[in-house]
Amino acid sequence: MIIRPAKNILGAIRLPGDKSISHRYAMLGGLAEGVTRLSNFSTGADCASTLSCIQQLGCTVRKTADGMTEIEGRSEFAPPAESLDCGNSGSTMRMMCGLLAGHDFECSLHGDESLSRRPMARVMVPLRQMGAEISAGMGDRPPLRVRGGRLHAIDYTTPVASAQVKSAVLFGGLLAEGETAVEEPFRTRDHSEQALRAFGVELARQRNRVTIRGGQKLKAIEAYVPGDISSAAFFLCAAALFPDSNLVIENLLHNPTRASLLDVMTALGARISVINLEEHHGELVGTVKLEHGPLKGTTIAGGQSVALIDELPVLAAIAPFTAQGVEIRDAKELRVKESDRIAAVARNLRAMGAECEEREDGLRVPGNQKLHGAEIDSTGDHRIAMAFSVAALRAEGESVIHGADAARISFPEFFNVLESVVER
Ligand code: S3P
Repeated sequence: MIIRPAKNILGAIRLPGDKSISHRYAMLGGLAEGVTRLSNFSTGADCASTLSCIQQLGCTVRKTADGMTEIEGRSEFAPPAESLDCGNSGSTMRMMCGLLAGHDFECSLHGDESLSRRPMARVMVPLRQMGAEISAGMGDRPPLRVRGGRLHAIDYTTPVASAQVKSAVLFGGLLAEGETAVEEPFRTRDHSEQALRAFGVELARQRNRVTIRGGQKLKAIEAYVPGDISSAAFFLCAAALFPDSNLVIENLLHNPTRASLLDVMTALGARISVINLEEHHGELVGTVKLEHGPLKGTTIAGGQSVALIDELPVLAAIAPFTAQGVEIRDAKELRVKESDRIAAVARNLRAMGAECEEREDGLRVPGNQKLHGAEIDSTGDHRIAMAFSVAALRAEGESVIHGADAARISFPEFFNVLESVVER
């Protein structure tokens, strides 16, 4: 993909449904009584992996002519004939483990080359404590073999702040005997809690601790999946770079555990307004407008790094265009995402002529720098491909994004939507 510099970002867009919510609605729909009907379901390949897993587990999935995704739930999954293919999706593999742990059969899960390098002990440890047998390849990497069955409740504190781990424990807890508690060091996205409630499950939260009683039944829902705020990040960051920009994104997810990006953009100096906020199944949805303001600089650390984990690559990629630069700390998890995102960001920023300091748990990108067009290597990581497509809009000269098709993992329409708001 060749990205030429732009003059401005202008327009109004809507985005496909949030990836995190789509995964959860699909999984819980698979175990709910009745037919779950979802509109604006994520178009990303990751959520297609989740749908194909639940099909392998005996659920019927239909795409209707008017764009709905329908899932016929069943009271329990059927043993799959073959290993479940999770593709590139860590969310699929880790959260499905929680559900499979409560099923009385043995099955395998595998993924692509990138997923096969990602750590799985974080879900294996609590699910084993609940009574499931789980084995993995070398270094607790996929493929996984899960022998589920009768689970018992646990009280678990996650060593890493990870919504996927919290969700796997809650999903196991739903199928376990007794009351399971999970506590996290920092608050992570709460879509599993919201989705469980939407499907009729009661759970309780006290600060960073969530409890769920096992044996509760799920009831199918009808839902609109709000636009993906992690996909919106690329457009908001692009618009923040141009003095005459004006970008509106409608029907966008505003869940407070996901919307820190808007706070950071405001802290940086962009002018943001939010209107038409509504709540659907516990998820806030609204319209956001971003207009340019001179970009200062900021430090992102602690709980904010956790909340912004998927948006950090694009924030780092636009950091050279801020006055004081951006420092990212406490984000070591970035090293075990679809790629080592700290290394990938540093390498591609340098390829574009920027200085940056790579640290074990983050980056420091000085401000007031110019970028030149360059050969960008996405290393097959969707968020790296899109982040540097945004930086390339403000570079001098053309950039070539190698591995740009990785965008299909979360957002296949990315380049078309980008072109629709770019002025040259
Ligand atoms: C996700 C949680 C995050 C995030 C991922 C999606 C989720 O991962 O990076 O893209 O849907 O729960 P971790 O739970 O590993 O932090």
